[in-house]
Amino acid sequence: MEKIKIAGRDDLKLKGTVRVSGSKNAVLPAIAASLLTRDKVELGNVPLVKDVHTMLTLMKGLGADFHLRRNGLSLEVKTISSAEATYELVRAMRASILVLGPMLARSGKAVVALPGGCAIGLRPIDLHMNGLQKLGANITLKHGYITAEATQLQGADITFEKKTVGGTENLVMAACLARGETVLRNCAREPEVVNLCSLLVKMGAKIEGLGEETMKIQGVAELGGAVHDIIPDRIEAGTFLVAGALTRGNLLLTEVEPSHLITVIDKLRISGAKVEVKKNKIRITGSEVIRSQDITTSPYPGFPTDMQAQFMVLMTRASGTSIITETIFERRFSHVNELLRLGASIEVSGDKAIIHGPTKMSGAEVTATDLRASASLILAGLVAKGWTVVNEVEHIDRGYENIEGKLRRLGADIERLSG
Ligand code: EPU
Repeated sequence: MEKIKIAGRDDLKLKGTVRVSGSKNAVLPAIAASLLTRDKVELGNVPLVKDVHTMLTLMKGLGADFHLRRNGLSLEVKTISSAEATYELVRAMRASILVLGPMLARSGKAVVALPGGCAIGLRPIDLHMNGLQKLGANITLKHGYITAEATQLQGADITFEKKTVGGTENLVMAACLARGETVLRNCAREPEVVNLCSLLVKMGAKIEGLGEETMKIQGVAELGGAVHDIIPDRIEAGTFLVAGALTRGNLLLTEVEPSHLITVIDKLRISGAKVEVKKNKIRITGSEVIRSQDITTSPYPGFPTDMQAQFMVLMTRASGTSIITETIFERRFSHVNELLRLGASIEVSGDKAIIHGPTKMSGAEVTATDLRASASLILAGLVAKGWTVVNEVEHIDRGYENIEGKLRRLGADIERLSG
């Protein structure tokens, strides 16, 4: 079990340049999309994070050949040799469900384990299932596995009852090879969904309305290979921006896409930080006085749920009371109890966390329960006086590439301990 140990300082000021990696949540569906063709799909700006390795293990089991290099990945699925995504893999990474749509569309059958519970709350996949059924799939559930079958998917008019990133991605992929037109309404508009759709278009898909709530897809008989770059990770970028504001530091983020971070940048400015935006670069200069504010998570372009835990840490240093309302996941406050161990003053009431600041935190041993919770604990550890040890740090490796190395180069006293 690896741990991260941080020597925190109340007066730590991070300084320097950090290169933002490719997006975890964009690369996972892009990898799944390679199941839609027998030709080679080449992806650039691929982050070397654990979820990518988990996805590649899954893909190998399904018949994919791949070659992963520094920042580049080529994938080729000449034939789908197995139609099954096992419980072991789906439990390790819920995004495994993204193979369902493309596998079904290409080979007429997909068997995927039901994901079950998750650290951030109930995460059903009913919207994926309903959509695929509307495309003509026959879906059965037995022994914890979903089997979806269809000799030929047929286009349909589908309205998502609720915005779903993975559901939109699964359905767009399936619709690309369905016969006729599919209209998807109330689609998630996250940049990661748009990045996937641009890849699909390069592969020969006919999709209108990229980035809009309604997309129209004209099914084609087959898709081909493509070369495609993964967008920068807006959540990694946001995490470093919070690190800059929190430590009243001065950071330059490079290879970032500022237009994906508008809401996050607005909130950082409200907190008092100076944020300068240039093409592919963002500079943040933290302010001595951090202002409190209320934040409500919502689907893109709203404030991302994946940045909620990190902003909570910033709010512990703000003067006054801040209220964070989580509307996407019903149990995404697992970091609160750990932040309390560091001395934060936070109460949770239903979907709200009420943060009283400013508090001076002191280092302690804490345990990460999910990816973004881990990020928040590392941020808190930077400014909590003394040693903070973050246990079960493998969660952080799922989505951040060498976070401790990047922070160390900015002046943090942080190291990874194994065992
Ligand atoms: N939902 C349903 N039924 C469904 C699907 C979703 O009720 O069939 C609900 C979920 O329970 C949740 C809401 O709809 O309350 C939104 O879930 P969504 O499907 O959008 O989430 P996801 O696709 O499972 C992706 C990201 C998450 C991110 C969410 C929200 C990937 C691989 N994961 O998950 O990322 O929090 O969108 O933006 O893209 C993370 O990176 O730490 C992470 C959890």
